[in-house]
Amino acid sequence: MLFSDALSRLGVETELGSEGPRFSARSPVDGQETLPVSQDTLATFDEKVQRASDAFLTLRVIPAPRRGEVIRRLGVLLRTHKEDLATLVTWESGKIFQEALGEVQEMIDICDFAVGLSRQLYGQTMTTERAQHRMMEQWHPLGPIGVISAFNFPVAVWAWNAALAIVCGDPVVWKPSPQTPWCALSAHTLLRRAAESVSDFPAEVSQVVLGGAELGTALSDDRRLPLISATGSTVMGRAVAQRVAARLGRSLLELGGNNALIVAPSARKDLALRAVVFSAVGTAGQRCTSLRRLIVHRSRLDEFISGLTDAYRSLKVGNPFDPGVHVGPLVSPEALERMNATIARAKEEGGSLITGGGELSLPGLFGTYVEPALVKMPQQTEVMQTECFAPLLFIVPYDDFDEAISLQNGVPQGLSSSLFTESIQEAEKYLSAAGSDCGIANINIGTSGAEIGGAFGGEKDTGGGRESGSDAWKNYMRRSTNTINYGSSLPLAQGIEFSFD
Ligand code: UN1
Repeated sequence: MLFSDALSRLGVETELGSEGPRFSARSPVDGQETLPVSQDTLATFDEKVQRASDAFLTLRVIPAPRRGEVIRRLGVLLRTHKEDLATLVTWESGKIFQEALGEVQEMIDICDFAVGLSRQLYGQTMTTERAQHRMMEQWHPLGPIGVISAFNFPVAVWAWNAALAIVCGDPVVWKPSPQTPWCALSAHTLLRRAAESVSDFPAEVSQVVLGGAELGTALSDDRRLPLISATGSTVMGRAVAQRVAARLGRSLLELGGNNALIVAPSARKDLALRAVVFSAVGTAGQRCTSLRRLIVHRSRLDEFISGLTDAYRSLKVGNPFDPGVHVGPLVSPEALERMNATIARAKEEGGSLITGGGELSLPGLFGTYVEPALVKMPQQTEVMQTECFAPLLFIVPYDDFDEAISLQNGVPQGLSSSLFTESIQEAEKYLSAAGSDCGIANINIGTSGAEIGGAFGGEKDTGGGRESGSDAWKNYMRRSTNTINYGSSLPLAQGIEFSFD
């Protein structure tokens, strides 16, 4: 399906006003410019944040289940337009169409989750030390929130935030990656449509600001936005967090990963190979959950290297819209330069390239296509400390299980991790306090492809935030602790005597 057909089926306005700056992204698929979009200035940014702030005053007093009704309708629209939106996701991010459909499904899933949540924003009641008193906590809407998202999940990460935020009573001001503006305008259009279809609901709850890093800075500094949820590189997240902290705002960070998978002596080869290949080459290695480091027990090393080499050689790299293709393009030529530089450095550190790494030229497609690469390392060296956002997998051997855990944890990032084993002792140790230090720790499944029901995010340089399922909704609300005296005296807490005439 064509880009413009998808946009028109989604009902997205493509006519630009006659004034103001504009820009065009380049599709990773064919290297060509997509349709131009209007770029926000600091003045239009300010207006949009103000509209979101004004909408908050209405939204915060709409009952949460009614806010949930808007998200239920968004879920219906997403089901209707699943292929249209996935088409734009593939054009703008380059991920294969199957994965783009999966991304839209992830949006639908979080909508369903948020609808249920709209009747479950539970607070607790506490016992009190004073007679005829009652103590409880309530969760109230926080305010308009800023969302910064990356090119690789151009709509799902916004949906994790927006579905919860709306149900929690918070408008959303979204700065998507400049690489994926039409994905953003489309998702925003659907949320607007859902909001407009519910009477007396403020459609201004959804705002999109398009532009570069200056808008990220403006969002971070804006006191009207009590929470900034940012997904992207650790460098970006550190800059955002420091600015937000300077004004004592809240930030919710989901930053780089450098994810590892351990293959134990008892690992099932069929399961592990499938998990490794999908985790390492899915989205052309450009997920924050992508597998970067494979830590294999020495007794299984040769077998896994040969199994993976065969699997990698059978992968089809090409047009991400073609049904048989496993790996689409990298986002940009610079991404390939970084991949090549990382492979060169790995060789200097004693590594050897087993397979892949070559750039492919595909007829008529001027994107950046590369064969996924496997690199064998003698041990975990310096180059493996940094996340390289490309289909590049390092393999290192280990001898002892504790050594494997410390190799896995011995990097600055802490997002996702997996262990393949049939040993209950190893599995339980891995999941224990002395095991994986990551936000996500899995047994016998890969590092990527988390479901929305769990809290998503990681520790250390990954930023510590948790989005999506479980109790991540609490990030989007403020807690009010209430003590009510229904007696006829005023006892003080802690038994303090305080009397006067
Ligand atoms: C990301 O790459 O920023 O677990 C998000 C996964 C997806 C989300 C990835 N559900 O791979």
